[in-house]
Amino acid sequence: MKNVLYIVWSDENMVGIPIIDEQHRGIISTINSLYYFIQTGHGSEIIKPTLIMLEQYVAVHFKTEEALMAEAEYPALDEHIGLHEDLVEKTRRIAADVNRSKDTDMVLKFLKEWWLGHINREDKKYAPSLKKLIDAEVP
Ligand SMILES: [Fe+2]
Repeated sequence: MKNVLYIVWSDENMVGIPIIDEQHRGIISTINSLYYFIQTGHGSEIIKPTLIMLEQYVAVHFKTEEALMAEAEYPALDEHIGLHEDLVEKTRRIAADVNRSKDTDMVLKFLKEWWLGHINREDKKYAPSLKKLIDAEVP
C-alpha cells in the first residue's frame, strides 16, 4: 500500500503555536516515511537511521517546547518534561533493540499512539499559556 499514509495529519492535531505545529508535522512525516519504507520492503535497512533521525529531531522539538513553556511560566512544566524524558528513553530502547526484534509493526504502533496521544492530550494543555505569550509579542 505505497500510496497510503500511516498517519494522516489532521488540523485537529494542531495546538495553535506555529513552530510547534510545524515540528509536529515533521515528526509525523518522519513516521510516515518509516512506514513507507517498511511497506516497500526496505524497512530493515531504513528503520535504524530513521529512528536516529527521529531521535535527533525530537530533541530539537522538545527543546523548543520546553523553552516556550518555561518562558510562559507554564505551571506543569516539570511534569511535561518528565513525559518527554520518558519518550526519549523508550525511543532509545526501541532503536537499540530494533535490529534484534525486527518487530516493525510494534515500533510504528508505539510511535503513532505516543505522538498522537501526547499532542492531543498533553500538548494541548499548554496551548493557552503559550498562545498568550505569543500574542503578547505581536506588535
Ligand atoms: Fe510535549
